[in-house]
Amino acid sequence: MSYERKNRKVVVTGGAGYIGSHIVEELLSSNYTPIVLDNFYSGNKWAIPEGVEVIEGSCGDPILLEKIFNETQAETVFHIAGHIDAQESVVNPLKYYNNNTKNSLTLIQSCIEHNVKNFIFSSTAAIYGSTTEPIVKENDEHYPINPYGRSKKMVEEFLEDLCTASSSSEKSTHLNFVALRYFNVAGASPSGRIGQATPGVKSLIKVVAEVHTGKRDRLSIYGTDYPTKDGTGVRDFIHVSDLSQAHIESLAYLERGGKSDVFNCGYGSGFSVLDVVNTYEKITGNKLKIEKLPRRPADPVSVIADNTKITQHMNWSYKYNDLEQILKSALTWEEQMSKIQ
Ligand SMILES: NC(=O)c1ccc[n+]([C@@H]2O[C@H](COP(=O)([O-])OP(=O)(O)OC[C@H]3O[C@@H](n4cnc5c(N)ncnc54)[C@H](O)[C@@H]3O)[C@@H](O)[C@H]2O)c1
Repeated sequence: MSYERKNRKVVVTGGAGYIGSHIVEELLSSNYTPIVLDNFYSGNKWAIPEGVEVIEGSCGDPILLEKIFNETQAETVFHIAGHIDAQESVVNPLKYYNNNTKNSLTLIQSCIEHNVKNFIFSSTAAIYGSTTEPIVKENDEHYPINPYGRSKKMVEEFLEDLCTASSSSEKSTHLNFVALRYFNVAGASPSGRIGQATPGVKSLIKVVAEVHTGKRDRLSIYGTDYPTKDGTGVRDFIHVSDLSQAHIESLAYLERGGKSDVFNCGYGSGFSVLDVVNTYEKITGNKLKIEKLPRRPADPVSVIADNTKITQHMNWSYKYNDLEQILKSALTWEEQMSKIQ
């Protein structure tokens, strides 16, 4: 279907971070004009391509937001900024509710005041908590098991309430949204320019890559007695480039009149921690040093996406649905980073 894109400016909060910087690359190659709003809490200036406008500050600062929306007249916001560590959220919940929930509400309010039309939100599979379903659908009942998941769920609910209010009142807002529930994001841009470089990040594939380059001495496996095929937790790993592409398709979906909604963003295939270890050993020929530790409180057993909804409603065709490819891409990036650090 062809449709006119009236305003190609896209404000990307968190555009200097891991996922945000890949989305900025994807926006550029799809001929949009990204404008990055980032407070550099965990983002990197070098991750933003030359020529892209960068505004340093918080997405929870209403005065700054007013200035940005007045000056840019942007009609689209990709809200990627947030804190990401589920374990940290257990010991410091306020940090997560302040940045992930409160700042998001301030941003959404400013979007409404400035007639932003399209809002794409970084949500998370952490919303599902310890689900008993082998594969989770968007409408399945879900109970997040950590403040991180709850901080994101509240924003989804706020967006849904706004849409309900808008459709049942005369004073409707123009804001439509897509919330993408990311599963476990990994890998690096095929451009070789960017990859996972968030300080202190402890996601499985990143840690495997760091053990590979010698930055860490071992991989800690938390929980080997889960009710899974080999006792370790199971996750659905999605390549960051496919995830970025899903954002472009989400915007296209809203621009052609798609209704505000929540979509899982994963491949629908689950791999255990030991599957990742075995795949690493197969592709490198190296033995990975591991240690087996007890379960951690904020870790769910298994989370795999049912991606029927996104594939039916959007023209999202993913390219990197292969654990070996994802791992190789993460290792290549880590090797490159280790040479310059
Ligand atoms: N990495 C994953 O596997 C994963 C999975 C599910 C959801 N997510 C979500 O994706 C988003 C991006 O995650 P990431 O892995 O790229 O993390 P990241 O830490 O690399 O990126 C977050 C970016 O947001 C910026 N930021 C944080 N608070 C801000 C604020 N108040 N104002 C402006 N900028 C701010 C940081 O400086 C950083 O550049 C997060 O919202 C996260 O919850 C990530």
